Amino acid sequence: MIQKFENIDSIKGELFLLGDKSISHRAVMFAAMADGISIIKNCSGSEDVHSTISCFEKLGCKFEIKDDQIKVWGKGFKGFTKPNSELYAGNSGTTARLISGILSAQNFESVITGDKSLSQRPMKRIVEPLKLMGADILANENGTLPITIKPSAIKPVNYKLQVASAQVKSAIILCAIHLEEESIFIEQTLTRNHTEKLLNLKTEIESDRTKIYVSKNDYPKPFEITVPSDISSAAFFIVLCLLTKNSKILIRNISLNETRTGVVNILRQMGGKIEIENEREEKGERVGDIRVYSSKLKNVSISKSVIPNIIDEIPILAVAGIFAEGNFKINNAKELRVKESDRIKSLCNNFKKVGLTVNEFEDGFELNGTVSNEETLFESYGDHRIAMAFGVLSMLMKKGGSVNDFECVGISNPQFVEQINNLCGY
Ligand code: S3P
Repeated sequence: MIQKFENIDSIKGELFLLGDKSISHRAVMFAAMADGISIIKNCSGSEDVHSTISCFEKLGCKFEIKDDQIKVWGKGFKGFTKPNSELYAGNSGTTARLISGILSAQNFESVITGDKSLSQRPMKRIVEPLKLMGADILANENGTLPITIKPSAIKPVNYKLQVASAQVKSAIILCAIHLEEESIFIEQTLTRNHTEKLLNLKTEIESDRTKIYVSKNDYPKPFEITVPSDISSAAFFIVLCLLTKNSKILIRNISLNETRTGVVNILRQMGGKIEIENEREEKGERVGDIRVYSSKLKNVSISKSVIPNIIDEIPILAVAGIFAEGNFKINNAKELRVKESDRIKSLCNNFKKVGLTVNEFEDGFELNGTVSNEETLFESYGDHRIAMAFGVLSMLMKKGGSVNDFECVGISNPQFVEQINNLCGY
């Protein structure tokens, strides 16, 4: 589906977004693992989280979904049942990788598959550490899905993470949580820590690394949670507000976890007027309201250590960068090549369409010049964050623009167009 966006003058009003996708995935998984009934409020309505729910249904869990609230009947320690068919993770890397850790500790065989994009993404990064833990896990010869996991005797480890990835970290934590004896994981670059926070794991932060301790004592028990709203979805609206004149929006109950707020910090450094109000803590996660005002931006340098914190927001930060003083440049972001699309390619190809001079590197890109205002058809490459980033760029262009295959936004925010229309007063 081609989605057309008209140029917009300003946006105003209040925005409520559904629950953070990363936290929702984990809440669903931990509720499924717990022995009894859990309630998840403000759960993400994304297709990705539905992929997680449908995998756990196949493993014997019952879910009752009413609007944004989910009641989960968890199966308890090793209570999952052998699925009748393959577990299909759709487009969701978080589903495929985290569930691999859980399934490595079960007493039955399972096979994990995914859509075309997910089937090209690297899985060796979880297969290798899980094998070190004794798991009988096999990806196909390219190190991609499908993954087959057979019963095995897993053992505790002391392991230093080789990739800065919260998905890899969470996969091995979720395997280790099935063992009486403690495992220790060492993370050299801080990545999102929702798994540790929700499970209340013992962590020790030293100057250049984090040590995470996990054993069966940490196995989830039934809980009730209100998931804070998704800061990664909010980022598109924040940038649109900053870059349009006389705009002012309030986004309520946003997750302000320190491993996710890099986008707000960078936009503030760029000169963005962004205020945080009503800050509080819910189930270990920081939450608050964000007020955003139109601002004049200038580009800043983005350091290597902040990359994992902004990894999902780089597409929209690049859009902000082309309207800011100076050139937008990013390096140390090779991970972008193995996301839902090769995001370096997807971004560079689309930016070339509007007349920018694009310098592509293996680990990033640099943008020069000004955006032509000819009406343009952008490609989403089936990647939700590319689709929304170029939806925002379209709205900032004098003659508007369109995005091909826009339906992929359902992967993280099916309400994107409706929310834009509300803020425009349509
Ligand atoms: C996620 C972690 C990140 C992020 C993805 C969600 C998670 O991936 O890009 O959208 O929920 O753990 P990596 O940990 O592989 O970088």
